[in-house]
Amino acid sequence: MDHFTYKSGELCSETVPVSKIAAYVGTPFYLYSSATLLRHFKLFDDALEGMEHLVCYAMKAASNQAILKLLGDAGAGMDVVSGGEYKRARAAGVPGERIVFSGVGKTRAEMEMALTGGIRQFNVESEPEMKLLSTVATALDVIAPITIRVNPDVDAKTHAKISTGKKEDKFGIPISQAREVYATAAALPGIKIIGIDVHIGSQLTQLDPFGHAFEKVAELTEVLRSDGHEITRLDLGGGLGIPYENSNVRPPHPAEYGALIREKVGHLGCEIEIEPGRFIAGNAGILVSKVLYIKKGEEREFLIVDGAMNDLIRPAMYGAHHDIVPVVEPAAGAEYQKYDVVGPVCESGDTFAKRRSLPNLQAGDLIAFRSAGAYGAVMASEYNSRPLIPEVLVHGDQFAVIRARPSLEDMINRDTIPEWL
Ligand code: LLP
Repeated sequence: MDHFTYKSGELCSETVPVSKIAAYVGTPFYLYSSATLLRHFKLFDDALEGMEHLVCYAMKAASNQAILKLLGDAGAGMDVVSGGEYKRARAAGVPGERIVFSGVGKTRAEMEMALTGGIRQFNVESEPEMKLLSTVATALDVIAPITIRVNPDVDAKTHAKISTGKKEDKFGIPISQAREVYATAAALPGIKIIGIDVHIGSQLTQLDPFGHAFEKVAELTEVLRSDGHEITRLDLGGGLGIPYENSNVRPPHPAEYGALIREKVGHLGCEIEIEPGRFIAGNAGILVSKVLYIKKGEEREFLIVDGAMNDLIRPAMYGAHHDIVPVVEPAAGAEYQKYDVVGPVCESGDTFAKRRSLPNLQAGDLIAFRSAGAYGAVMASEYNSRPLIPEVLVHGDQFAVIRARPSLEDMINRDTIPEWL
C-alpha cells in the first residue's frame, strides 16, 4: 500500500494534490510520501519484533537528507557504501553507532572518516580490505568492528545486473573460504570480528533464495563458533522486491520475510540486521512529468514528456517497467490508446515505455511514473546538460521542497575554462 491515490478525481500524495505541487515547483520532479516511507520501515521493524535487531535503510535507494532524517528519527540505522553516504547520514543526524559501512572498494580515507566519526561495523568484502582496515584502525588507536561478507553462491533469480550472491559476482568472499579468512581476521590487531554479512541481490520476488542463503549463514555461524570466533551479529542484507506492475505476482510481505529469518537463524541468538532499500523507498516515490508533445509516427504514437532517461534511468538501463498514470483521474469509460512514452534526450534508449495503454492525453497534461522512489533521483545525471530535478516530500497536508532545482547557471558554472584557452 502506498499513499498515492486519486481523491476527487486528482492524484494526491497523502492529502496534497500532485498538480498543486507541480504548479509550485515545476516539472519534472520527484515526490515522496513520508507516511509510505515510515509505513514500510515499520513493516520491517515489526517483522523482526522479539529478536534484537536493527533495520539499516540502504540509503543508496534514495539518499536525500530529509528522507534519512525521517527514517533515522523513527529508529532506522543506515547502510552506507561511500564516504559521501556516510557524511550524508551523519549530516541528517543519524548516529555513527547506527551506521554500517558496506561495499567492495572502501578507501583508506573512507575508513578513517568512519572510524573517527563513529561506526557500528564495517562489512568487509576481501582480505586486502581487511588488512588495510586493521592498519588504519591501529594507526588511529581504535578497533574496527567487522562482519565479513560471504558470497553464498545462491541464485537470487533476479535481473543479472542486480544479482550479487553468485560466485561470478564481485561481492564478498567465497563461503567455501570463510574459515581461513576468519582465522586471518582474528589474528589482525586493529579489527574485531562480530559477525557475518550476506546480501544476494535486489528486487527478489521469491523467498527461496533468501532461505538458502540464510541456511548457509546459519551453518557457517556454527562452524565459526566451533573454531572459536564470537559471532553475535548477522547482517542479512536487503533485496526484498516490490510490485512494479499491477499484476497477480506479489513479492513476499516483510512479515513473511521476518518469519523466514526467525525460522532459519532465530535459534542462534544473534542480533539481526537487515538492509532494505527498495522496499522502503520504491513505492514511496513517484516521478511527475508533463506531456510536451504528441507526435504521430507512421507506426507509433509518441508521448514526448519533459522527464527523460537522465532523470529516471531504470527503464533504459534494466528494461524496467514503471506504471504510468495520469494525474487527472480518467473518467469512467474514458478512451484509451497506446503510446510510446519518451523523453527529450537524443537517443532512442530514452524510452520509458512502448505501446503503453493510457487514456487520451494532451500537451500540458501531467503524468506520474509510479514506484520511482528507489534508484530514481539517486541515479540521475545531467546528461544532455539537463539539471538534476527537484525532490519534494509530503507529510499529511504539507509539502516541502527537499532539493531545489538548480538554475542552468548553477550547473554550467561548475565548469572551469583554463586561462590558457
Ligand atoms: N545491501 C547491499 C550490500 C546492497 O548492495 C544493496 C543493493 C542493498 C542492501 C539494498 O537492496 P534493496 O533492498 O534495495 O534491494 N539500481 C538497481 C538496484 C541496485 C541494488 C544494489 N544493491 C535498480 O534500480 O534496480
